[in-house]
Amino acid sequence: MNLEKGNLLYRGKAKDIYQTDQQEQVIVKFRDDITAGDGEKKEVMGLKGYYNSLISAKLFTILENAGIKTQFIDLPEPGFMLSHKLEMIPLEVITRNIAAGSLLKRFPFQEGQNFNPPIIQMDFKNDEYHDPMLNDDIILALGLATSDELEIIRKITIKINDVLKNFLETRGLLFPDFKIEFGRDCDDNIVLGDEISPDTCRFWDRETKDILDKDLFRKGESGVIEAYQKVANMILDEEDKKKWSLNF
Ligand SMILES: Nc1ncnc2c1ncn2[C@@H]1O[C@H](COP(=O)(O)OP(=O)(O)O)[C@@H](O)[C@H]1O
Ligand SMILES: [Mg+2]
Repeated sequence: MNLEKGNLLYRGKAKDIYQTDQQEQVIVKFRDDITAGDGEKKEVMGLKGYYNSLISAKLFTILENAGIKTQFIDLPEPGFMLSHKLEMIPLEVITRNIAAGSLLKRFPFQEGQNFNPPIIQMDFKNDEYHDPMLNDDIILALGLATSDELEIIRKITIKINDVLKNFLETRGLLFPDFKIEFGRDCDDNIVLGDEISPDTCRFWDRETKDILDKDLFRKGESGVIEAYQKVANMILDEEDKKKWSLNF
């Protein structure tokens, strides 16, 4: 399979989207570029794309098995995810189980505070406007999604949180918060797209409370790729590890 045969449809900060010879399918290529602070801090980190693609594939599979529609079709090789092509909705749907990050700068929450029920926050995915927080009226007025779609997105997001939080707990990880993106498939179904990885989630070691995600990079700390590798090691099954034996 020539994975890069099709046209490049989109080049983002961390991934490329390629058309395949199937109109409704794309290849999502996970690159090694890592960025933070609105793209101001930038580096290349060998194997980041490799681990993020394996982690995303695993978590998408868990969700599919729980009945949630995702973009995931196959991971023909690490770094390259064959996916359903989606018309992306420019929302960053953020779910928070534990107070961390930007939320603490904006509101008087206590670091480490638990949220039950979780907080669902929607930001406008728009670099020019620096991803401002939205409310339902603004989303509808901007025409980003319909009220029916918003309701579906909220329901699916709550289910995704329940499924992933429970799974990650069994693998020794806390799941303080995460950001996901949805799109519409060719039948206008709402489908989970993009990625679920240490670039877009907070993962903390349940025992040691060690940070195992992009926060290490944001803070300028070492051991970023080792943390991503550790997450992959904790969540992948032995079978997956054997299949991709090279870097474990
Ligand atoms: N299945 C998909 N079909 C089409 N576009 C997608 C799909 N999954 C993700 N995308 C879009 O492709 C881009 C992924 O690249 P990324 O590097 O994360 O970009 P960005 O810098 O915009 O966050 C994002 O804009 C995302 O919305
Ligand atoms: Mg992105």
